[in-house]
Amino acid sequence: MLESSSRISWSQVIAVLAALWGFSILRRIFRLAKVALTPSEFPKLYTPLYPFSFPGGLLTSGSWNDGRDWHWVRRFQTYRQSETVLVVPILSGKPSLWSSNIDIGRQVAAGGHRSDFIKPPYSTRTLHAWGMNIASAEGSMWRKHRRIVGPAFGPELYKLVWNKTLEIYREMVEVEGWKNQNVVEIPVVQKITAKLAFLLISTCGFGFSSTWEDSPQTADGAMPIQEALKIVAETSILFTFLPKWLRFLPISGMKEGRLAQDRLRVFMQDQVTERKGMVASGDKRADAFTIMVKSNQDESSKYQLDDSELIGNVFVMLFAGHETTANSLAVTLGYMAIREDIQNEVVEQIMSVLGPTRDPDYNDYLKLDKVLAIFYEATRMIPAGHVLFRGAAEDTVLTVPNSVGEEGTKTVPVAKDTTVIIDMVGVQYNPRYFEDPEEFKPSRWYGLPADSEQYTAFSVGPRACLGRRFATVEGTCFLAMLLRDWQVLPVLRDGETKEAWRVRVLNDVRVSITMKAGDFPIKLARRKPF
Ligand code: HEM
Ligand SMILES: *[C@@H]1O[C@H](CO)[C@@H](O)[C@H](O)[C@H]1NC(C)=O
Repeated sequence: MLESSSRISWSQVIAVLAALWGFSILRRIFRLAKVALTPSEFPKLYTPLYPFSFPGGLLTSGSWNDGRDWHWVRRFQTYRQSETVLVVPILSGKPSLWSSNIDIGRQVAAGGHRSDFIKPPYSTRTLHAWGMNIASAEGSMWRKHRRIVGPAFGPELYKLVWNKTLEIYREMVEVEGWKNQNVVEIPVVQKITAKLAFLLISTCGFGFSSTWEDSPQTADGAMPIQEALKIVAETSILFTFLPKWLRFLPISGMKEGRLAQDRLRVFMQDQVTERKGMVASGDKRADAFTIMVKSNQDESSKYQLDDSELIGNVFVMLFAGHETTANSLAVTLGYMAIREDIQNEVVEQIMSVLGPTRDPDYNDYLKLDKVLAIFYEATRMIPAGHVLFRGAAEDTVLTVPNSVGEEGTKTVPVAKDTTVIIDMVGVQYNPRYFEDPEEFKPSRWYGLPADSEQYTAFSVGPRACLGRRFATVEGTCFLAMLLRDWQVLPVLRDGETKEAWRVRVLNDVRVSITMKAGDFPIKLARRKPF
C-alpha cells in the first residue's frame, strides 16, 4: 500500500491533466451557453478567438477566424443590422461590445471625466513605460495632467510646428538630392513620412535639434541623442510586450534598444533640470517640453507633476503622434497619386493663397482648407487611431440611439468590467454619418470650422486627441509645399488601372497599435521642369 502510493505513475498524471482540461472545456461550454441563452439588446457575433487578445491578436483575418484586422476586413458587414454588436469569442476571451456609433463613443470615451468607463490598464502599457501621462491617466489624475499638458498645445507650438515643417521639407529636398531632378521615384513613401513625423516630434515635442541629415557622432563616441530617440521609437512596442528577461539576451537589436533607453532616461532627467533653469531665466522656447515645464513651475505645488510625469508626457507625444501622423500623410499621398482631379483642385487653392514662391506661414493654415481636407479625408479612410478601448468601471448604462430613421434612444444596462470598443473604422464608414462612405471625397470637409467635432477620427469630447492641431498643421504645411512643387503620380503595374491600384495598395491595411496602409511607392514629377 504505502509503497505504491509513494510513486505517482505517468498515467495518473495524464488522467488528472485530462480531467482538468475536460473541466475547463465544460466550464467554457457552460459559459458560452449562458451568453447564448441570455437575451441581448445587440446582435451576437460569434468568432473562434477574440481578435484583440492572445492568441487571436497574433492572427489576421482568414476564412475561419477574425484576426486583429477584422473590423477593417468586415467594415461593410459588421454593423449592417445594428450599430452596436456583442462579439462573443468561442475558444478564448470574454464577450465585448463593439460600436460604430459616435454618440456611444462620446459616452464611453470621456474616460474619468464624469464617465463610468475607463481605459483598461493593459491598453496603455506602451504609453506608460516612461512615466504616468495624460493619455494613460483617469479621473482627477487626468485633470491634473491636463492642466499642465494642455497649455503646451497652443498657438506658439503650432507656429513652431509650421516653421519646422517648412525647414525640414527644404532639408529633405536638399539631402535626398531632389533639387536637380525632374522626376523622383520614392520606393517607400512611408520612409519619407515617418522621418518627417519623427523629426517634428523630436524638434517641437522634445525640443531637440534634429535634422534630415543623420546626426553627427558625439565627440566621446556615445550614441547621439537623436539616434537614441529613433531607436526607442522603433523598439518600444516590442519592449513592452516581451518578457523583461528577454531584453538582456545578447542579441544586437536588444542590446542597442537597451542602450538607447538607458541613454535617454539619463538624458531626459538632466533635461528636466536644464529646462527648469531655462524657464527661470526667461528663455521663451516654444517646444512642448519647455512649455510644459513652464506651466508646471507656474502651478501651485499641489497640482504639480513630478519629473517622471513630465517625462511621461513628452514621450506620449512620440507614441501617440509619430506613426499616426506618418500613416495619414502616406495615405493622403496615395490618394493624390490616383486622383489627379482632386490634386489639381487642391493645387489651384495653394497657388491662389501662396502664389508660386512665397513661403507659407501659420496664418495660411486656415486658408488652405482644401489641403487640410485631403489630410482629413485620408485619415477618415484609414483611421490611424482605429479603436477606442474602454471598460465599465461600475455597473452602468448606455444611452443607445435607435437606428437611422427612428427617433429616440433606449437605455441599455452594461455590467461592470464589460469591455466597450468604439470601432473608429465602423464610425468612419457608418452611412448614418457619410454619404458613400467608401469614396474618397475631401469636399465633405471644405470650409469646416476649425477643430469641428463633426470630424471624428481624432475622437470627440474632453479626451479627444490633444495633438489634432499638431498633426493637421504639420500635414497642411508639408502637403502645401510638396504639392506646389511636385505632381504626385502612382507607380502602376503593367496594365493596372488606378482603381485596381487603389484596391491593391490602399485597401491593404495593416493593424498594430495603429492602423496603416502597407508600404508603397510613389513618383514625383516637377511641375516646372528645368
Ligand atoms: C493623424 C494623426 C493622429 C490621429 C489619427 C490621432 C488619433 C487619436 C485618437 C483617436 C485619440 C483618442 C484615443 C482614446 O481616447 O482612446 C488620440 C488621443 C491622443 N493623442 Fe492623437 N492622433 C494623432 C496625432 C497625434 C499627435 C501628433 C499627438 C501629439 C503631438 C497626439 C497626442 C495625443 C494625446 C496626448 C492623446 C490623449 C489625450 C487624452 O487622453 O486626454 N496625437 N489621438
Ligand atoms: C516662425 O517663422 C516666422 C517667419 O520666419 C517668424 O517670424 C516666427 O517668429 C517663427 N515662429 C516660431 C515660433 O518659430
